[in-house]
Amino acid sequence: MKPDPFVRIANSRDLVGHGPFALSASGVDVALVRTGAGWRAFQGLCPHQGALLGEGEIEGDRLVCRNHRWRFSLDSGRRDGGPECLASCPAVERDGAIFVDVSTLKGAPRRAAPTRSLDDLPGPRPLPLVGNLHQLDPTRVHLILQAWAEQYGPIYKLKMGPRRAVAISDPHVIDEMLRARPETFRRSANMDRIISEIGIKGVFNAEGDAWRPQRKLSVAALAQRHLRQLYPCIETVAARLKRRWERSAEAGEPLDFVEELKRFTVDVTMLIAFGYDVNTVEQADDVIQRELEIIFPAVNRRLFALFPIWRIVRSPSDRRLERALRNVRAWLSGLVDNARAGLQADPDRANRPSNFLEAMLAAVDEEGKPFADDVIMSNLMTMLLAGEDTTANTLAWAVHHLCDSPEWVAEIRREADEMVGPVDVAENIDVANGLARAGAVANETMRLRPVAPVGLFDANVDAALGDLRIPAGTTVVILPRVPALDQKNFVQPLAFRPQRWMEHHPGAHEVSANSPFGSGPRMCPGRSLALLEMKTFLSMLYKSFDVDRVGRAEEVTELFGFTMSPVG
Ligand code: HEM
Ligand code: FES
Repeated sequence: MKPDPFVRIANSRDLVGHGPFALSASGVDVALVRTGAGWRAFQGLCPHQGALLGEGEIEGDRLVCRNHRWRFSLDSGRRDGGPECLASCPAVERDGAIFVDVSTLKGAPRRAAPTRSLDDLPGPRPLPLVGNLHQLDPTRVHLILQAWAEQYGPIYKLKMGPRRAVAISDPHVIDEMLRARPETFRRSANMDRIISEIGIKGVFNAEGDAWRPQRKLSVAALAQRHLRQLYPCIETVAARLKRRWERSAEAGEPLDFVEELKRFTVDVTMLIAFGYDVNTVEQADDVIQRELEIIFPAVNRRLFALFPIWRIVRSPSDRRLERALRNVRAWLSGLVDNARAGLQADPDRANRPSNFLEAMLAAVDEEGKPFADDVIMSNLMTMLLAGEDTTANTLAWAVHHLCDSPEWVAEIRREADEMVGPVDVAENIDVANGLARAGAVANETMRLRPVAPVGLFDANVDAALGDLRIPAGTTVVILPRVPALDQKNFVQPLAFRPQRWMEHHPGAHEVSANSPFGSGPRMCPGRSLALLEMKTFLSMLYKSFDVDRVGRAEEVTELFGFTMSPVG
């Protein structure tokens, strides 16, 4: 008797509404949709940059990818305006569950068998035990790895201590690796250990079955439809920031721009993800940011340390880190207690949580078990850290480049006057989303100055990337800025030219060689929020203020501290 090819993918009662639902069966990602004609199951990854299609939206009879809004027919799987077509597979409902036959989805075209091994690759000469770590200054690690890519080519080997590693800057191979998650590749186990050691095991460093439910909640909390309801939060924080700067300007007080931007991004993240108005913008002190900014650089130092000395003796900086973590955790615990009390007082809210925190508290798994307290706390910390530095540093880089680009300041200002009108800040999400020039500046800034220029991953199993064999346990270092600055992919690659994102013009413009938010199933869930914040902020800023840099452009350098920020 032939085995039944159908495998159970979900309980019917867990699938409320039409979907799409991001599910997985036998290690294959599936996007499941409830249609008038029954269930439809499609390949789970978008043919564009591999995002999970189950994280998208249904609009009429179209499945829309959340990232770059490619639209696919629910009937045929065909993409509107493009040759791509989603593969589908049979889906049936029986005995209160949905079953799919994913065998037809598994048959993705396979590359030729890999012919090269790590031994065949060039790379910098390692020392015994430390490998190349002694050459990797943690504050400039991205520049060193990029310089090696110039010297040794798009795929080279190195050693991170005793671990073998391969550094990749070929955009197709980067994309191939990022798509093959969470099954074939994972975030680096060393990085996970270092982040877990400080008590954070959230969506960023969770893997496999533990990652999926956390991912689902973070995506839902940051989805466009949720941001639509919550846009007034961004508007409020941007308006407060404007008033704060007006007061400072009147008093002649200098401002630390990056710190100011962090007030903006922390306040927005707290309101959107936790429903809490911390309002650091209107406070003199910024306790929470000062604690948060200790965490990333400390993790980064440990990541590239020659020896894990902190596991044996604690230095003053280790104690500072512990203090910061304790304070942030104590502070977040207060929010969790309040949110829990709110849900107890109004149990109906559990069915319609209004933010990420409530959704985490209300969620239960198949056996009715809620998330453990440490998972909830880890995810609050993750959201806060992921939402603060990344967007604030990108905005700081944007303003840095705009200081040397008066024509683009004029463009943003003209757009803001036309679209935002007499008010200070875009009044609704449609206006903010429509700020194309501010968006082009954000895209160009992220091409030149991606705040995550280095990614660290490990192979879970023996794998292949391109023509290279990757043994299980090998660390894969990705360098996404290298292809973004390659003249094969972008004309005049080192110039700040936001117009390249606005109009069709001659010369190379290979959009897929620029992936500041990552790609594949773990692509940044905060992308839409970050873009919205950046457009709203840039139009507010240049509508109301003239901005000058103190000092010269050459004095501003890149500091790597897990994210890459401007200093000087
Ligand atoms: C300019 C702003 C931002 C940039 C450039 C950025 C970039 C990234 C990158 C490169 C990743 C790794 C993606 C991958 O592994 O393929 C990531 C993951 C993540 N980001 Fe962002 N991010 C930004 C803003 C945000 C915001 C505002 C939030 C939320 C408030 C956020 C939340 C997250 C989370 C939770 C993950 C982990 C996702 C997972 O592992 O499934 N990010 N981000
Ligand atoms: S449209 Fe799906 S990843 Fe870009």
